[in-house]
Amino acid sequence: MYLDQAATSFPKPPEVVEAMTKALTEYAANPGRSGHRMSVKANEVISQAREQLADFFGFSYPNRVCFTSNATSALNQALKGFRFQSGDHVLTTSYEHNSVRRPLENLKEKTGIKITYFDPGVGENFDMDAFERAITPHTKMIVVSHGSNLTGKITPIDEIGKLAKESGIAFLVDAAQTAGVLPINLEEMNIDLLAFPGHKGLLGPQGTGVLMVGKGVELDPIFQGGTGSRSESTQQPAVYPEFLESGTLNTPGIAGLLAGLETVKKLGLDSIYSHELQLTQKLIEGLRAIDYVTIYGPQTNRLGVVPFTIEGIDGQEIAIILDQHYNIAVRAGLHCTPIGHESIGTSESGAVRISVGPYNTEEEIEQALKAIEEIVEGYFG
Ligand code: ALA
Repeated sequence: MYLDQAATSFPKPPEVVEAMTKALTEYAANPGRSGHRMSVKANEVISQAREQLADFFGFSYPNRVCFTSNATSALNQALKGFRFQSGDHVLTTSYEHNSVRRPLENLKEKTGIKITYFDPGVGENFDMDAFERAITPHTKMIVVSHGSNLTGKITPIDEIGKLAKESGIAFLVDAAQTAGVLPINLEEMNIDLLAFPGHKGLLGPQGTGVLMVGKGVELDPIFQGGTGSRSESTQQPAVYPEFLESGTLNTPGIAGLLAGLETVKKLGLDSIYSHELQLTQKLIEGLRAIDYVTIYGPQTNRLGVVPFTIEGIDGQEIAIILDQHYNIAVRAGLHCTPIGHESIGTSESGAVRISVGPYNTEEEIEQALKAIEEIVEGYFG
């Protein structure tokens, strides 16, 4: 039973497997590098993926949909490619994943940027007034995760986008947990840079990620190399998408991502999210009824991600028992969000995280709750 959907979605739809197999067996030549039909076909599928992704995320510039190998590489490109200078300020939150925190800390060390980690708190609310007060005259970028991979708390990116636009600050959204789950419209939400993986809510394979770069943002590429264009030049072509896409793209992966996106569209974001919410409510109610269990995160305004602890028992131990004894896959530990764990007070023991997806069922939640109840009984009698 797979309840680790926040780490990567599983199972993948059969359409994704079929699309990848077809790419690998029929046309996965080097896209856009050669003039032969297989190369042209590979390039066509990639262009189709750019167009469909742009359309799905309310973005008018498919050429500025840049493929990366995961959300982390997209975020690194957005952050390290941004033209920061010493003394520039970045406003972010304490719920950020290490894929935002570590590049920011690296920029702090190397470039001398300043960072504010705003704590949105554990409840439903996000205090926009306090967040606005954290902006300084030197703030050049706001970067937030749309949904916490630890508590599932959803960030009001539409309100933040408005604030960023009014203040003339670049706005980067990490949609690792929400792409394919919640509606995101880049242009309506005033998002300048949108980063997400292909392998979570979009149901595609690992090794795929995307960075969408709005027209108003100037980035420098963090990689230079072969692009299949302007080979005579020593400089990276200043044309999107190859400006940010050096080296051979992951054609089978992108074909799989396109099929994943098509599946998401067929299922519908509304029904995906309401299904995940229903399972989450059931899970939270069930966990609340078990002695010695503490649940973290907001009551509402959340994703299908639920962290919990059992008094006095190490999170990793619980995850191992769930895996080895009950065949239930969850993730324990710090979930690459150490400051998030500081905020909820679970830095010492870590927490166990259950996360659900479109293919999980109520029966699975019931079985997981029964297993946790038995574990508690086993420890406390
Ligand atoms: N970021 C992924 C997670 O939260 C890997 O588990």
